[in-house]
Amino acid sequence: MTADRNRCWRVARHSHPGEPFSAELFDWCEEAISEPADGEFLVRTICLAPGPAQRGYLDKGKERLLERVAVGDVMRGRGVGQIVASRHPEYSEGDIFLGSLGWQDYSVQRPRGKEFVFSTKKITRPILPLSTQLGVLGQAGVTAYFGLLEVGALKQGDRVLVTAGAGGVGSVAGQLAGINGADITAGTASTDEKCAWMCDELGYDAAINYRTESVDERLAELFPHGIDLIFDSVGGEILDTALTHLAFHARVVICGFIATDYTIDPLSGPINYRHLLYKRARMEGFVSFDYWDRYAEAEQALAGWYRDGRLFNSEDVDQGLEKMPDAVASLFTGGNRGVKICRVAPDPDRLPSE
Ligand SMILES: NC(=O)c1ccc[n+]([C@@H]2O[C@H](COP(=O)([O-])OP(=O)(O)OC[C@H]3O[C@@H](n4cnc5c(N)ncnc54)[C@H](OP(=O)(O)O)[C@@H]3O)[C@@H](O)[C@H]2O)c1
Repeated sequence: MTADRNRCWRVARHSHPGEPFSAELFDWCEEAISEPADGEFLVRTICLAPGPAQRGYLDKGKERLLERVAVGDVMRGRGVGQIVASRHPEYSEGDIFLGSLGWQDYSVQRPRGKEFVFSTKKITRPILPLSTQLGVLGQAGVTAYFGLLEVGALKQGDRVLVTAGAGGVGSVAGQLAGINGADITAGTASTDEKCAWMCDELGYDAAINYRTESVDERLAELFPHGIDLIFDSVGGEILDTALTHLAFHARVVICGFIATDYTIDPLSGPINYRHLLYKRARMEGFVSFDYWDRYAEAEQALAGWYRDGRLFNSEDVDQGLEKMPDAVASLFTGGNRGVKICRVAPDPDRLPSE
């Protein structure tokens, strides 16, 4: 597909605290495609990565890690695309490019260093489908890799719990735990169907439906000697309950807190943090972009496991740029199974290395 117009989602207004994410926050626009100036290039978006953090880009409630996107601007979002015109000597037509492309078909880009989420790069040896460069081999994979192996210091024989274990980051973290020698890996999810998928496809030893089962009872049954490593993306009650099941010298990795991030009610807890003291455990948060200088290490390892068939491409693809607001909204209702991807255009027939 090569559109002659740039379709995009522009921010119509910021959301009120607690307001669900929806398409009502945006205007759908069709505009002329911008021309790159000297040192710039034009990228056609192929896939975008809907992520829970994008809700925060519009939320006028609390302070967030990233600044809000201004009303009238194209919505911010990472994506993978192909260069279709270039006025930069090191970037050529046909190159595959990863960066903050925004919710649109075409964006004018230039190279940017490790300026947090706006960092960009050319993918010299892309693997198909290109969606993997955002998912299992990209941001989701890298987050799971550093969170689990570096912050969580996963060891052979560890007993591991991954919350939101069927989600984007969680589906990779659960697989990486098994690949890297965990003795038992269990995860939480909101439906039986997701729990079955986690065990059948992702290699989890067990999965807990936190909506229908007692998390406390299941953890006691699955981890009679305690949990060595919790990879937590959820926070709230699930984390608080899991803290009472820690093993000695456990590590609790805080990747996210989707259960409480947008609640407007006053929050309490974690009440059970005293178990960190009882079990001489530690709890540590991390942001994957802090590891930008070491992304290549993670990407190489992930690609190796993927090629060996040990890492499964756990992605959940929506078709069309039109779907972006709904795709982000679905993350807050557990609508996704694996890494949420929005495909905007087909992969190219030929890659630059061919
Ligand atoms: N630290 C970092 O550098 C970093 C990087 C990327 C993402 N993150 C964070 O990691 C987390 C996962 O991100 P992701 O992109 O992979 O999203 P995701 O896990 O694919 O989607 C979110 C999942 O969270 C679960 N969920 C949603 N609302 C919930 C609630 N109220 N209570 C319990 N579970 C709920 C849902 O699955 P189920 O309900 O079925 O379990 C949903 O599928 C997010 O908190 C995100 O902000 C952190």
